Amino acid sequence: MCRNARAGVTMLYNSKDKFGLVSKGLHWTIAFGIIGLIALGWWMVGLGYYDPWYHDSLEAHKAVGMVVLALAFCKIGWQFFNKPPAPGKTLTPNEKNASKTMHWVLYALMVVVPVTGYIMTTSSGQGVSMFGLFEVPALMQNSESTRDVSTSIHYYFAYAGIALVLGHAGAALKHHFVNRDDTLTRML
Ligand code: HEM
Repeated sequence: MCRNARAGVTMLYNSKDKFGLVSKGLHWTIAFGIIGLIALGWWMVGLGYYDPWYHDSLEAHKAVGMVVLALAFCKIGWQFFNKPPAPGKTLTPNEKNASKTMHWVLYALMVVVPVTGYIMTTSSGQGVSMFGLFEVPALMQNSESTRDVSTSIHYYFAYAGIALVLGHAGAALKHHFVNRDDTLTRML
């Protein structure tokens, strides 16, 4: 393999102190996906039944949400296959613990919100249409109470996600502008 090709392949992987292109791509696609889905979800539930966007916005929300779920599984799988870099050397022990906890909570959010969306949508036995191309089948039919519980979890976790995403982004910006370390730049 020529040197350029080898360097290109190396850039895909995390190194000891930097994230690789796969981690960065998954991180930002999921981040913008979640922010977009929260905004879309908030907007669409306010639409009237006869609004021209009533049906299409919900279908788009479900399909994009399933894509985010698939990417979240890819991100979790990739973490096992290719270890992320160690936390920055400038982080205090408290900051290291806080960032570890925040990452676990964010991973839970990435999985719990779309899974509860899937459960409530498919509770009647109907699958999720993926942009009209194919359908993700319903795995089971659920009771009304299961649907209600998943709807509540979907709602509360999604809106709690706003606080988490803001806290996460705020911490990264604080490190960049106040501590002037590489916490943010190594993910850019
Ligand atoms: C990370 C992914 C997702 C996020 C952040 C998200 C976020 C949201 C938000 C903020 C709402 C509005 C809640 C409200 O104000 O009542 C909503 C509603 C909804 N979401 Fe999601 N969602 C995601 C994935 C999914 C998936 C994968 C599905 C289904 C396959 C789904 C199905 C729905 C449905 C059916 C509603 C309307 C609920 C109602 O009418 O009360 N969502 N979502």
